[in-house]
Amino acid sequence: MTEPDPSKTTSKSIAFELGLIVAAGLVVTGVVVWWVTADRDRSLEPSGPTPARSNAAKTEHQALVESLVGDRACRECHPGECALHSRSGHSKTLRIGAAHNPVAKLSGAKFNDPEQKGVVWAYSVQGDKLTVERIENGKSDTFPIDFAFGSGHSGVTFVSVHMPTGRLGESVDLEHRVSYYANRKNFGITPGQEKGEKAEGLTPAGRVLPGDEVKSCFGCHTTINSTRGQEIVDSATMIPGIGCERCHGPGSEHIRLARAGKISIDQGDDRPRTTAAEEMLLCGQCHRHPDVISSKEIVAENAKIVRFQPVGLMQSKCYVKSDGNLRCSTCHDPHARASTNTLEYEQTCLSCHAGGDDKSKACSIEPKPINGCVRCHMPKRDAMHGLMYTDHWIRVRREAGDAAKAAYAAPSSPRSAAPIEPAKSIKKATVDPAIRSFFARMK
Ligand code: HEC
Ligand code: HEC
Ligand code: HEC
Ligand code: HEC
Ligand code: HEC
Ligand code: HEC
Ligand code: HEC
Repeated sequence: MTEPDPSKTTSKSIAFELGLIVAAGLVVTGVVVWWVTADRDRSLEPSGPTPARSNAAKTEHQALVESLVGDRACRECHPGECALHSRSGHSKTLRIGAAHNPVAKLSGAKFNDPEQKGVVWAYSVQGDKLTVERIENGKSDTFPIDFAFGSGHSGVTFVSVHMPTGRLGESVDLEHRVSYYANRKNFGITPGQEKGEKAEGLTPAGRVLPGDEVKSCFGCHTTINSTRGQEIVDSATMIPGIGCERCHGPGSEHIRLARAGKISIDQGDDRPRTTAAEEMLLCGQCHRHPDVISSKEIVAENAKIVRFQPVGLMQSKCYVKSDGNLRCSTCHDPHARASTNTLEYEQTCLSCHAGGDDKSKACSIEPKPINGCVRCHMPKRDAMHGLMYTDHWIRVRREAGDAAKAAYAAPSSPRSAAPIEPAKSIKKATVDPAIRSFFARMK
């Protein structure tokens, strides 16, 4: 830590002296006892960069922050995208405090831990916060839930930050042991924490996130982590969820130009667009790009990469051989929830695979199918806990029988600890500096 924050030290030591507002005795690797207090400082300070670098980063981040206008400012001129986006997983993927639906409705719920005998997890809302009690033999430890990750479409994982360990000045971030699985409307063990997992930092209450990992969680689930810099997580100034400007960059200049009549609505279909490769980098920031995966992992049998859609898609001949005509937005509206209408996607397959030209071929089985393409060539696979993900590595699958099923066995939770940057401008909405902006091109 380069600049110790005095306010933080104070709040921590006050909490320490007042004793424990909520006492939590919990053995971490045999020795450390956590004392969870209600008035923790919820901002995480950087531990890495040198002062010079962090000052530079601050100015750049400051400029970014100042030109952000927020999703609501786009509504006036782009009501369609805004309406779709407000219902999407992107906009709802992180909740602060967790006293909102769907999380708040977990209040009163109890869950018997399937692996820790006699342990019950009890959820209740206290103040503006969902809290969970871990009850074992009449002894109870309480954990306030600071953040809920996941829109509730599939899984919701709780994270508590800055929990004092009981050693003065030491605190940890905790990924809770128990997650909520919306797909089966029940709680379950968080992926990667089940019996037999060898992840570092596993405790009876959850996984202590090593080093900066918690910052990377936020990096992929917020628009910005705080106004003070991406390396600081601060719930007071964070913009949770993936807003318009995370993908398109800050909007103030665009809106200024639009109001000045300098953006023509009538640009026709030939206005320059982001290329497929650029889109892979944009979406791949969070959905993972082959650049951040070891090439050894990129094999068809590795079920772990099923969740990494750009990685899979970019292995497909459809992507490689279609001259940049296939990208995520060919099949998905990036503003909306993924459609569950398979026939819609299959219309897209057929737009290239109707046969008849030499570029793309029709399906080679007889009689020639007119649908079912997704089921046979892009099936859903169990990535964990019955969470089914679509395998975006479009290919011919000859696997059959139990051996093939075993090859598709559940992986552990794929989560990169790499720091994730938000869009500094639309230009930098992607990880590749060469990428041109949506807005810049319209000037
Ligand atoms: C005052 C009106 C106005 C506001 C507010 C506005 N835009 Fe636009 N925007 C336009 C116009 C006009 C165009 C060009 C016509 C079109 O593509 O719809 C445009 C086009 C775009 C495009 C397409 C660019 C391209 O090359 O295809 C994106 C992306 C975009 N706006 C994003 C945003 C975002 C994000 C916000 C909020 C931060 C926003 N706009 C706010 C007027 C506005
Ligand atoms: C590299 C970016 C990235 C990082 C880092 C990351 N996530 Fe995610 N997360 C995603 C994406 C993308 C999804 C969308 C679902 C998918 O395709 O895996 C997602 C989905 C989720 C979901 C929804 C449930 C599900 O499994 O679909 C939860 C909960 C979640 N993440 C929690 C976390 C937590 C907690 C951390 C930190 C320990 C974390 N994520 C780190 C990108 C990331
Ligand atoms: C996950 C990234 C992402 C987010 C978040 C996002 N967009 Fe987009 N947006 C895209 C991509 C990619 C395209 C290009 C899609 C295409 O070419 O079909 C696009 C296209 C657009 C366009 C041009 C549409 C057209 O038909 O040319 C507008 C306008 C737009 N977005 C506005 C918004 C607004 C407003 C928001 C927030 C409510 C938003 N976007 C959020 C990725 C995103
Ligand atoms: C800043 C990180 C980030 C970026 C960039 C990003 N995503 Fe996502 N995406 C996520 C997370 C996190 C989720 C999980 C949302 C949830 O909790 O349900 C997600 C979910 C999705 C879903 C499932 C949505 C649903 O509700 O059914 C689709 C489809 C998707 N993303 C497509 C894209 C595409 C296409 C792009 C690029 C244009 C993109 N994403 C860029 C982080 C990101
Ligand atoms: C933008 C055009 C395009 C779209 C859309 C598209 N493909 Fe393809 N696909 C191609 C091209 C080009 C090839 C390579 C053909 C060749 O080998 O010359 C290909 C190859 C294939 C192959 C053979 C793969 C192999 O490894 O031999 C399959 C199977 C396939 N596509 C299925 C699909 C399915 C299913 C969909 C829809 C989910 C789809 N494609 C969407 C263009 C496309
Ligand atoms: C050829 C069509 C196609 C392309 C291209 C495509 N997807 Fe998908 N995607 C699908 C289908 C089909 C589904 C399954 C939808 C359903 O029925 O739930 C899906 C589902 C998803 C989901 C929801 C979770 C899941 O795995 O079921 C996410 C997230 C997603 N896609 C992200 C992406 C991203 C990111 C890209 C670009 C790298 C992309 N997709 C490109 C067809 C496509
Ligand atoms: C019942 C499963 C099934 C369905 C449904 C199906 N396919 Fe196939 N497809 C296969 C198999 C198996 C092969 C490989 C056949 C062989 O070469 O032995 C194949 C091959 C292909 C190829 C490679 C052709 C070549 O000459 O290399 C393409 C392209 C393709 N399918 C596209 C599609 C599209 C598009 C659809 C939907 C209209 C579709 N498939 C529906 C099972 C299926």
